[in-house]
Amino acid sequence: MSFMRLFVLSGFVVFFIFSCSKQDGLESINRNEIDINLPEIVYNYTDIDIPIHLSTNALLGVGQNAATDNDNTPISNPTTNYGATLGRVLFYDKSLSANGSISCASCHKQANGFSDDEVLSKGFDGGNTRRHSMSLINAKWYARGRFFWDERAATLEEQVLQPFQDPVEMGLTLSEIVSTVQNQSFYPELFNNAFGSEEINADKIAKALAQFVRSIVSVSSKYDIGRANVNIPINDFANFSESENNGKRLFFLPKSLGGLSCIGCHSTEAFINPDAGTTNNGLDLISTDDFGVFEIIPNPRFSGTFKVPSLKNIELTAPYMHDGRFASLEEVIEHYNSGVQNHPNLNNSLKDENGMPQRLNLSAQEKLDVVNFLKTLTDNSVTMDPKFSNPFK
Ligand code: HEC
Ligand code: HEC
Repeated sequence: MSFMRLFVLSGFVVFFIFSCSKQDGLESINRNEIDINLPEIVYNYTDIDIPIHLSTNALLGVGQNAATDNDNTPISNPTTNYGATLGRVLFYDKSLSANGSISCASCHKQANGFSDDEVLSKGFDGGNTRRHSMSLINAKWYARGRFFWDERAATLEEQVLQPFQDPVEMGLTLSEIVSTVQNQSFYPELFNNAFGSEEINADKIAKALAQFVRSIVSVSSKYDIGRANVNIPINDFANFSESENNGKRLFFLPKSLGGLSCIGCHSTEAFINPDAGTTNNGLDLISTDDFGVFEIIPNPRFSGTFKVPSLKNIELTAPYMHDGRFASLEEVIEHYNSGVQNHPNLNNSLKDENGMPQRLNLSAQEKLDVVNFLKTLTDNSVTMDPKFSNPFK
């Protein structure tokens, strides 16, 4: 057991012995003593105004509605305001890592759309994660309900306990997590508010974290505001520039109508592909060091296939792809324009009529238009809202 870990677990006694010293990292202990910053009246995580293009009027009126058709909330864990509040505290609690140095939020940063601006994230001991961190926005509206780039977690409740136990990420055992939560004075009340009893266990920790993650949805980007005034998304939006409207047309229209068919994979108006499963978008000719879903389900048709992420707030979640290989949206567009590789599992929609990888021959203006459209998906209400922010301040 490392020094810092011992320190965190030992609580008050150790705190008093060392409270005069000014070593780095002691803030994580001091938190045992200070109040966490929670609002007097609990934040509203549940009563969200869902615009009709996410509930009843999706796509051309025939598409799936992101919010109503694809919600993965299980009956056993409905989101409540007090449940999400507890989840928020757990999400930002650095004591829930082996040396008290990181929390979920270290790799899922609110300002970065709950992704990480690093190509690979740093775990508690300085080690790198294997893949690039994923945005958590709109996780709720993913009907398959499977999580991670390779979808190895069958539910969000199952997913949220894994980072704690990952030897690179947070480095704890399940019983250490539970006892570390139990040893902090502010938790019993939060558990009581959320679940009607002060008892703390792993199941409740998972449920609360899942509720918080599910509460992070985007409904008020520039796209959503413009969309509210038209009946179908292909119509020009009054609040969009000419370039943004043109980028939108390119994104939505199929290639047969002069578009780029992006919506075919980044689908529904949460732009997340809620039920089609993982696919290959031609990043590499062959898979060599990361086989994606194949590592979980050893069937060759899953080799090099990965989850399609939501494009909401994509401007803020750079770098891009499962390995963070692209630093900018311009590089992503250049990939779809000229860089798609003929991987054995390359999705047909990224091939031309001869079965070869697509070459879109976009003009500089068209590339700019698609980038400008993607930036209309930025939703600062998610990245600024205090209800999603760090309560340990
Ligand atoms: C050290 C960095 C790090 C920490 C800490 C961390 N994550 Fe992650 N998270 C990642 C990475 C990297 C991935 C993608 C991993 C993969 O797919 O193999 C990920 C993926 C996820 C996903 C999947 C999203 C999706 O759409 O499939 C969720 C949900 C998630 N993390 C939630 C959490 C929660 C909750 C915590 C705290 C208990 C947490 N993470 C802590 C780095 C981190
Ligand atoms: C065949 C399905 C498919 C099509 C068509 C498609 N994408 Fe993707 N997209 C994916 C997949 C899968 C990923 C993740 C791949 C990975 O990391 O291995 C992805 C990733 C991305 C990312 C990075 C997301 C992140 O969080 O890192 C952006 C941006 C993106 N696509 C934009 C577009 C645009 C713009 C178009 C149209 C030109 C498009 N996509 C067409 C499947 C597709």
